[in-house]
Amino acid sequence: MKKRLVVQGRLSDAQLAELRDLFEVAVLPKTTALDAPENRALLAEAHGIIGSGLAITPQLLDAARNLNVIATISVGYDNIPVDELTKRGIMLCNTPDVLTETTADTGFALIMTTARRVVELAEWVKADKWQASIGPALFGSDVHGKTLGMVGFGRIGQAVARRGALGFGMQVLYSNASPKPALEKELGAQRRELNELLAEADFVCVTVPLTAETEHLISAQELALMKPSGIFINIARGKVVDESALIHALETSVIQAAGLDVFEQEPLRAASPLTKMPNVVALPHIGSATHETRDAMAQRAVDNMRLALQGERPISLVNEETYQ
Ligand code: DGY
Repeated sequence: MKKRLVVQGRLSDAQLAELRDLFEVAVLPKTTALDAPENRALLAEAHGIIGSGLAITPQLLDAARNLNVIATISVGYDNIPVDELTKRGIMLCNTPDVLTETTADTGFALIMTTARRVVELAEWVKADKWQASIGPALFGSDVHGKTLGMVGFGRIGQAVARRGALGFGMQVLYSNASPKPALEKELGAQRRELNELLAEADFVCVTVPLTAETEHLISAQELALMKPSGIFINIARGKVVDESALIHALETSVIQAAGLDVFEQEPLRAASPLTKMPNVVALPHIGSATHETRDAMAQRAVDNMRLALQGERPISLVNEETYQ
């Protein structure tokens, strides 16, 4: 008998067909709550769940008695109670590597657009305000040759740093639990304590995963350490930053600008002060959102699921303890 899968996320027709060859597949729309009463029977029989933004709760896990594998179409898994899964012997698979370069591109796009005021000035042209050559009031700041402070120096942080050091001649500083001697050699990067990095960097770019330790890692106290000309970039998770403190820092010119792909509450509502500030570029969590990369992430999730349900080691397994 074929094993049963629940899919709640974007897969191509070919990817769905690949899964249907091997498994009984039920596709749930994103508008349905995974643990809604009408999905209980489906969940009770499912061996695998594959999708993005999956709302996995202990109650759902109680209902999903046969569940062996969850394959999230994301690298981040802060929305998933990993310990609960591990306790129940359920594998959690994610999609690292395939989105590293694209997410770093997004980070660098935010560095460039905030420093050079690209969005603000493009809107200004569209509003027919370009009547004469612009003056210093609309000048931006250089990116090349400046100091880039990476908060978190994992795969994505390193890829942003590589762009800065090799493409823009930037001095890279990083704060990270462990030193990265190979990157220090390759990029001339220097490790700093967080507080030192915040004080020295022209651009502070956050790439740490969201955990109990990193929630509100950046709050009023940390922002106050940044240069008044400093630009703050977040491509990690919104909750790593105290958003009210960030808004206050921007409103009171504690820092110059911010480029944000992630927010404490997503989707960000237009009522947020962040949407009103010309010195803020707010994106709708597009870190990995290119056709190529989202397709590669979905394929990685499909491969993870296929391997795991066939008893082989998945490519990207978060909770190693669950693999026998
Ligand atoms: C990820 O993969 O974690 C990206 O942030 C998209 O959610």
